[in-house]
Amino acid sequence: MKNRSQQIDFDVHTIRKDFPILKRKVNGQPLIYFDNAATSQTPQVVIEAIVDYYSRYNANIHRGVHSLSQEATDAYEEARIKVQKHFNATKSHEIILTSGTTHSINLVANGFAAILKKGDEVLVSALEHHSNIVPWQMLCQKTGAILKVLPMTQSGELDMDAFNKVISSNLKLVFVNHVSNALGTVNPIELIIKKAHNVGAAVLIDGAQACPHIKPDVQALDVDFYVASAHKICGPTGVGILYGKEAWLEKLPPYQGGGEMIDQVTFEKTTYAGLPHKFEAGTPNICGGIATGVALDYMNAIGFETIAYYEDQLLQYATQKLLGIEGLKIYGISDHKTAVISFNVGDIHPYDIGTILDKLGIAVRTGHHCAQPIMDFYQIPGTVRASFSFYNTKEEIDTFIQGVQRAVMMLS
Ligand code: ALA
Repeated sequence: MKNRSQQIDFDVHTIRKDFPILKRKVNGQPLIYFDNAATSQTPQVVIEAIVDYYSRYNANIHRGVHSLSQEATDAYEEARIKVQKHFNATKSHEIILTSGTTHSINLVANGFAAILKKGDEVLVSALEHHSNIVPWQMLCQKTGAILKVLPMTQSGELDMDAFNKVISSNLKLVFVNHVSNALGTVNPIELIIKKAHNVGAAVLIDGAQACPHIKPDVQALDVDFYVASAHKICGPTGVGILYGKEAWLEKLPPYQGGGEMIDQVTFEKTTYAGLPHKFEAGTPNICGGIATGVALDYMNAIGFETIAYYEDQLLQYATQKLLGIEGLKIYGISDHKTAVISFNVGDIHPYDIGTILDKLGIAVRTGHHCAQPIMDFYQIPGTVRASFSFYNTKEEIDTFIQGVQRAVMMLS
């Protein structure tokens, strides 16, 4: 909980001026962007960093003695250090820059193909996005490992009592999201990491939906792998973050072969570069990596406590207002939630509500949110998902509520 002076410091109308897209109209109406869980909007300072890179020092990195290459290399490696500090990793080479959360997860899953044996067990939670399910299913097909599922409850939380039943000495790896993309539930990852480590299993946390709201401390968590995407934290698309404990990253084989990830290459044999380059084959998203550092600076300047406090006010306000609409049901009612509300009204299809909201300039996501097992659990085809960010306002929520009421009237 924040103190009063910190609350007063936050002026959403000043913050909104940092985001040029928030001035635009959609279908003749002022844009109300409530699809932040899919991707966040981009502040001017990040847009300028991208323009500056291509206008002044676009060059390939780690390869050239010329000045532009040196400048680009320095800026890229500075960004890696910003990421390291943000996540409180011990060493900058424990930060691998990838193309996104999905890439980061696949990189680790591919590495574990060389480690897991037939009969080993891996545990996934019922609350996952497809990107934290499918790569592990593929891993199990390759290795003969067994995929177990930690179940969820009606309130959209992990069933931690069941954890004790599914955990065994054969468990080698646990992968759970920090926050559910479909429901917004914040999972008890500290407890999960402790319990997994007690039986010697490694843990990967998918932080894609947590990082817009929470600043993770990988040392305090003692987590083995933590992954996230830049485009959900005010950065560009095409950049992912993989934190891995040094010992694990040393142990895992490279994911992709190519330039930059090698030490010596002959036709007989190749030896690999050290960390982090072993996992960064080819020319990376140089500009995107640099812009990610700028995005983290931007969010840290506002402060994650301020962001979490303000967004929680939006969540509480919108939840109360939505529950006033007859027939509306919210999926995911944990006390520990980020600013995400998934709902349906009666048997109206979520897509129809989303289409009417779009006509009113309001962007929400509709469908299964790449989390079909959660929709199967609730026996629904999908939901309408409104996800808020620190640049949204209560006035926007009022307009959104009127929009939902209007859609319900038209579709009932
Ligand atoms: N994973 C993103 C979402 O939840 C795309 O919308």
